[in-house]
Amino acid sequence: MNKSVNSAPPGDNSNPDGPSAPLPTQGSTASNTNGQSERDNVEIQKELFDAKKSKLAKYKELILGESSTWFLIKYELITTFVSWPPGALGLLLRSKLYPLLLGRVGRNVTFGANVVLRHPRKIQICDNVVIDDNVVLDAKGESNNGITIGNGVFVGRNTILSCKNGDIIIDDNANLGFNCEIYSASRVRVGKNALMAAYVYLVGGTHRFDRIDIPILYQERSSQGIAVDDNTWVGAHAVIFDGVRIGKECIIGAGAVVNKDVPDWKIAAGSPARVFKDRRETEARQEVNA
Ligand SMILES: CC(C)(COP(=O)(O)OP(=O)(O)OC[C@H]1O[C@@H](n2cnc3c(N)ncnc32)[C@H](O)[C@@H]1OP(=O)(O)O)[C@@H](O)C(=O)NCCC(=O)NCCS
Repeated sequence: MNKSVNSAPPGDNSNPDGPSAPLPTQGSTASNTNGQSERDNVEIQKELFDAKKSKLAKYKELILGESSTWFLIKYELITTFVSWPPGALGLLLRSKLYPLLLGRVGRNVTFGANVVLRHPRKIQICDNVVIDDNVVLDAKGESNNGITIGNGVFVGRNTILSCKNGDIIIDDNANLGFNCEIYSASRVRVGKNALMAAYVYLVGGTHRFDRIDIPILYQERSSQGIAVDDNTWVGAHAVIFDGVRIGKECIIGAGAVVNKDVPDWKIAAGSPARVFKDRRETEARQEVNA
């Protein structure tokens, strides 16, 4: 496994070995890598306590991502009356009304109860998608494209997709288990048919800690992004660090801490994760034994 030294984010389409292009319908690009992501948390905290701004202005900025009062009214009415009802009525109401808030919603998209939407206009969802109960879709950021969810994707209960001026792309037919977290301060892509077990954490950003005179909280942040390529399976409770590219057809063992790239077809596990097998060799052995 080689640590990526490429300054381009993993999954950048200019890399011929990188994952395939994001969904064409959304036109998402890795618009904001390292520099722009160095504001996020502290800036948000500052904005929250900025005495010069009204509470309403802060709310619009942080929750809606736009200043339109008409949009605020629509958001408040829909989330207040439609976000929580259980059962079939709730599903029906949300499927009809959430498209009025989101950037794009395809056909046959199901929203569970208590889904949280932040900067909803920057959330694009294709056809035949399930967003389970209590999912958070947070597309926050000033200059990002936000969250793009492809066809046939399942997002499990309590999963959080969190942008801090970054982009998250979940490609076609990917399956995100319960209680996962995907954080992006630049660009994080989960490939086609990728399978994430419960409690997987993709940490698409990190903190600098060079200085010892100020808390890490106030030091710079950086983000190279993460790519988990097509047909890869990530086991339960795995943590994938910023800057890592996991190739296609890989398996990441349960509980792995992945801090370096994993080439295509490899099985890796442990903390830190080490490659211990190539899936093609296993298959070849099975053919010989058959
Ligand atoms: C990685 C995995 C697929 C097993 O692959 P495998 O090729 O069958 O591996 P083996 O069981 O032969 O184990 C090979 C070695 O790796 C070790 N290993 C396997 N999985 C490991 C893990 N998750 N963490 C640490 N070590 C692991 C084994 O202990 C063994 O070590 P040894 O050679 O020193 O005895 C499996 O262990 C795993 O983690 N599956 C994910 C389960 C999960 O999260 N399911 C959620 C449902 S979506």
